[in-house]
Amino acid sequence: MDENPNFKRILLKLSGEALKGDASFGISNSIIDEIAEEIKEIQNLGIEIALVTGGGNFFRGVRAKELGIGRASADYMGMLATIINGIALQDVLEKKGVKTRLISALEIKEIAEPFIRRRVIRHLEKGRVVIFTSGTGNPFFSTDTAAALRAIEVKADILLKATMVEGVYSHDPKKVKKAVKFDHLSYSDILSKELKVIDHTAVTLCKENKLPIKIFFLTKKGNIIKAIKNNDIGTLID
Ligand code: GTP
Repeated sequence: MDENPNFKRILLKLSGEALKGDASFGISNSIIDEIAEEIKEIQNLGIEIALVTGGGNFFRGVRAKELGIGRASADYMGMLATIINGIALQDVLEKKGVKTRLISALEIKEIAEPFIRRRVIRHLEKGRVVIFTSGTGNPFFSTDTAAALRAIEVKADILLKATMVEGVYSHDPKKVKKAVKFDHLSYSDILSKELKVIDHTAVTLCKENKLPIKIFFLTKKGNIIKAIKNNDIGTLID
């Protein structure tokens, strides 16, 4: 097992959909609690943590057409969903004694601080878990892209995308039995293969800024720590 002890600062993108667990909607109490527990453990290892929340457990901007809503409006609805998840995570983390700062790309100052790059870097240096919400604050950009952008802005060592799948597969594992999981891919592999597991804008940003990405399954106990400590989980893209 390869050890990866050198991460000083990580950015963890939490899929909104994974937060709902077995429910069809909303936040699973046990899942958010387990995630918070793991984040606390990671912090105890001396690693600085920034989180980016997705919002798919409440609303997905890509459903715009189906609902007869314009894409921009739907994306704003999705951004509000990421704020709901951020508030919940902040509360659960702070109940466990983890200091946090909630940041929003959209101005919602009664709830969250605005994004000021140098200020959030100071929060991280002081050991606070920084929770980024509202994506990039712009419609037409995904929360994956927000995660890549924020990771680069705060100079994180890796972007960890914790999601509903174990990694990147050759085929859709739900449809194709012989689908194989890749342990390691290049940015160009993802871009050329039209693999949909992470959006291309995010991958392009990471490629240009040489930020490695790891994609792994969120809702298995201990997986976030494993994704940080060793290389035998998920798919590494660099
Ligand atoms: P330091 O100056 O590094 O000590 O940072 P700090 O975050 O502790 O200081 P500050 O006095 O700015 O913040 C105190 C509390 O207010 C923290 O919980 C912040 O998250 C919160 N806070 C700061 N600015 C805002 C804001 O614009 N909106 C909201 N809702 N909370 C804020």
